[in-house]
Amino acid sequence: MAEFVPILLKYGFISLLPMPGRSRCSLLAVTGVNFELTYDCNLNCAHCLQQGIRRFTRGHLSTQAVKDAVFQVYLSGLCTSGVNFTGGEVLGHRNDFFEIAEYTGSLGIPYRLNTNSWWSRKSGLELPGRRFESPLDLVRHLKSIGLGQFAFSYDERMSNSDLFDNLVAAIKLCEIARIGYQIIFTGVDPAKIGGIINELHKAAGFFLNYLVPVSAEMADIGGCTGDNAAYAWQSNKADCRDKGFYHPAFLHVSPDGKVRTCMYAVGSANVGDITENAFTDLINDFPGNTTGRCFTSPARKQAAFDNLVAPYLASYRPFVHECTRNAVLVRTIQTHFDCPDLSLAEIHHRIGRDLNLAHR
Ligand SMILES: C[S@@+](CC[C@H](N)C(=O)[O-])C[C@H]1O[C@@H](n2cnc3c(N)ncnc32)[C@H](O)[C@@H]1O
Ligand code: SF4
Repeated sequence: MAEFVPILLKYGFISLLPMPGRSRCSLLAVTGVNFELTYDCNLNCAHCLQQGIRRFTRGHLSTQAVKDAVFQVYLSGLCTSGVNFTGGEVLGHRNDFFEIAEYTGSLGIPYRLNTNSWWSRKSGLELPGRRFESPLDLVRHLKSIGLGQFAFSYDERMSNSDLFDNLVAAIKLCEIARIGYQIIFTGVDPAKIGGIINELHKAAGFFLNYLVPVSAEMADIGGCTGDNAAYAWQSNKADCRDKGFYHPAFLHVSPDGKVRTCMYAVGSANVGDITENAFTDLINDFPGNTTGRCFTSPARKQAAFDNLVAPYLASYRPFVHECTRNAVLVRTIQTHFDCPDLSLAEIHHRIGRDLNLAHR
């Protein structure tokens, strides 16, 4: 056993340092890690929360850096429900996805892939560095290297019949290959979802045996880029009661290595940056997280908002969601700590740009 001590020390699983004091900031509830492998995408959906940041994110984590991160979250027990790979659009934009996926599968970690299913009706599938005879071969290959399920999106883009047909074709492929899939409804009235599933069933000509219901926690709800009031009810439903910032259920890693606790706070590194520190160090340091502590009481959060954000509200389009207010606040606090030389006006300019909230 003694021979494992150096490696456990190296990765921060054991420590010679004193324990941090009592704190409400904890990653104990984290059961899954969402890796955004790229923000590049073949589409440009009106509702996409990456619209702003996509233009300003340069480069992405290397294959090895992603594999190291997967290994560390696995050993830290943060992915008991699994790992999610998403983009942007991973298929077609990350040549190394199959290597990363295979590695994740080799650790026995359940993993899911979000995709807009652009590939599902191609005859021969030419992906960077990889050719598949057919989309079915791609699906079967992913299943063979451990993919547990796909996540397909249903949103306003389905009014385009080509994109709807892509979704139907992707569903059919999953039914044929006997692999699970979820449908993430974004901006869709919940009362209409049953009817849409019936419509998809009829269009696919298959019973949707492999359709996996999405639990409320896994649904991508909220959103912080649009000014479309139709989305407002979703963030009310997503009410995490601010725990997303100090006792989150998921962590999100952006393509450039920033780690955040709330999906909607794009561009935030409120947990840290894995290009600067080992993932395990970020995890061990989280109980002392200043940004998170600010969300542990409504009064503390309101005071921070009044001081740091309220005077600059005029530089933003009106916020529709509570998630948006939180995303702006968390980024302000964090940038204020990380870049003490930036003025608050400069910080808000940057946030408005990244979250697509600046005046048009
Ligand atoms: C960012 S996309 C990446 C994967 C893939 N390109 C796709 O669209 O499925 C992942 C999920 O986030 C959802 N999403 C994008 N913008 C959103 C927003 N503003 N609010 C809520 N969900 C959003 C998408 O609908 C999709 O289900
Ligand atoms: S929602 Fe998905 S498909 Fe649409 S632009 Fe964003 S990443 Fe691309």
